[in-house]
Amino acid sequence: MSNQPRHIAIIMDGNGRWAEAQGKNRSAGHEKGSETVRTITTYCAAHPEITHLTLYAFSTENWKRPKLEVEFLMKLLEKYLKKELPTYLDNNIRFHPIGDLSVFSPSLHQTIESVREETEGCTGLVQNLALNYGGRDEILRAVHTLQTSNESITIESLTAHLDCEIDVDLLIRTGGDHRISNFLLWQSAYAELFFTDTLWPEFTSDELGQIISQFKKIERRFGGVN
Ligand code: FPP
Repeated sequence: MSNQPRHIAIIMDGNGRWAEAQGKNRSAGHEKGSETVRTITTYCAAHPEITHLTLYAFSTENWKRPKLEVEFLMKLLEKYLKKELPTYLDNNIRFHPIGDLSVFSPSLHQTIESVREETEGCTGLVQNLALNYGGRDEILRAVHTLQTSNESITIESLTAHLDCEIDVDLLIRTGGDHRISNFLLWQSAYAELFFTDTLWPEFTSDELGQIISQFKKIERRFGGVN
């Protein structure tokens, strides 16, 4: 029986390089990258065996970028969520933000919350959008919650307090680098890792389909033997 990737996670890298290669500024790459977010999300929603798609949109380290780029990304995110609400609803996609959202502006925070609430009843794909997200930060916050509630610390209790409780089956990074960059550290313990040189704005459903076909051929042993 072939593996089905139920949870796919993607590190969307290469927006800046795509824009520079086109003689445009980095913002144009992020704008184009947001179109790829829509394409890939609707592709996954059309494949019911995929239950969760987690996208790394803004890391706890991305605040180190130039102020103007950070401001642009925040505006783009707000614009995207407002514009794409019908896409979420029409495709039965539940929007679930992960990360520490407390730092965002009241307006962005409100938009995030409203899309989350409006799509709460959707029963198809769950799109986890990682916003001000870091794997270490997520684990630390879960440990603090466990300490405060005096719960015993086990793999199950810690997992239950993470932003995302579901293990990753398939982790993809676009843009040519081979690193995890603090993404879903706990959940990727047994993920299959795929790296592609394709820059995120040029990543297509076809390429995702090819990666999924390769994934299906892998023998996954989870530390055991077959
Ligand atoms: C990495 O490319 C990308 C990001 C840090 C942000 C990801 C953002 C998007 C895909 C678009 C906005 C998302 C939504 C949901 C509206 P990079 O800038 O590091 O590229 P580079 O490595 O070529 O410089």
